[in-house]
Amino acid sequence: MGVRILVWDVPTRVFHWLLVASFAGAFLTSESERYRDIHVVLGYTLLGLIAFRLAWGFLGTRYAQFKSFIFSPVETAKYFTSMLKGSPKHYLGHNPAGSLAVFALLALGITSCVSGVLIFQDIGGEALEELHEMASYSMLGVVALHVAGVLASSLLHRENLVRAMITGYKSVQTVGEKGISCAYAWLGAIILAIVLAFWFGYQATGLMGSPNPDTAGQHSE
Ligand code: HEM
Ligand code: HEM
Repeated sequence: MGVRILVWDVPTRVFHWLLVASFAGAFLTSESERYRDIHVVLGYTLLGLIAFRLAWGFLGTRYAQFKSFIFSPVETAKYFTSMLKGSPKHYLGHNPAGSLAVFALLALGITSCVSGVLIFQDIGGEALEELHEMASYSMLGVVALHVAGVLASSLLHRENLVRAMITGYKSVQTVGEKGISCAYAWLGAIILAIVLAFWFGYQATGLMGSPNPDTAGQHSE
């Protein structure tokens, strides 16, 4: 039996699961005009969450900080080689493969949302719509790789990474590894409250007043 230590703070966990919900919802509502407001609200949520995560990557706790999971190409290559041999090196925070997925997801999320906002404001044309769709589908591809990677690492290390992203805790064998001392639950609660208020109160903000009167009220499924 190992020792249970806290690795992921609450804001990082709340960020992750709200990101999953927003991405899934934005995808499912992307095809139909009828769900356009929901699509846009979830897209803005995704953008806000990513903005928070960029700040938290500098201000957050040890394993949430970008500097704790920026690896050199050599270390990344070594990790992939050791993974292929079936005995990858263990990392308490993100491993080099996970780190690549995280940065790709953040970058694609930003591209998708910024192009989405421009389209929604009627700025830009077909090229931007292409970009929006391409970034969103590429993100879906990286999500699939990310989930496969999480499951593969969990099996190889006999460690439940999904549970760790829910509870924040991991079990370690060695005493040398250090957990974080503050979970920042209050900040996680604030983020959750802001997102829920935005989801359930957006009609009152007037944000969704259709900027394009030509398509307002049209329902083309
Ligand atoms: C603030 C963020 C976002 C805004 C304002 C936004 C807005 C829009 C708008 C206005 C369209 C219709 C474009 C058209 O007329 O062809 C659209 C389409 C689409 N959006 Fe977004 N979007 C956002 C984020 C996202 C995200 C995060 C995803 C990925 C999950 C996504 C996936 C898609 C897809 C796949 C389509 C193409 C649907 C189709 O016509 O086949 N969007 N978005
Ligand atoms: C829309 C889908 C998803 C997106 C956009 C996404 C994005 C991310 C991001 C950005 C991180 C980095 C967390 C951070 O440091 O802030 C992460 C980590 C993680 N995600 Fe996801 N994720 C998605 C789906 C999932 C699903 C479905 C699972 C569960 C099967 C999952 C499990 C995890 C785990 C376990 C980690 C921590 C990995 C580690 O231990 O290094 N993710 N994800």
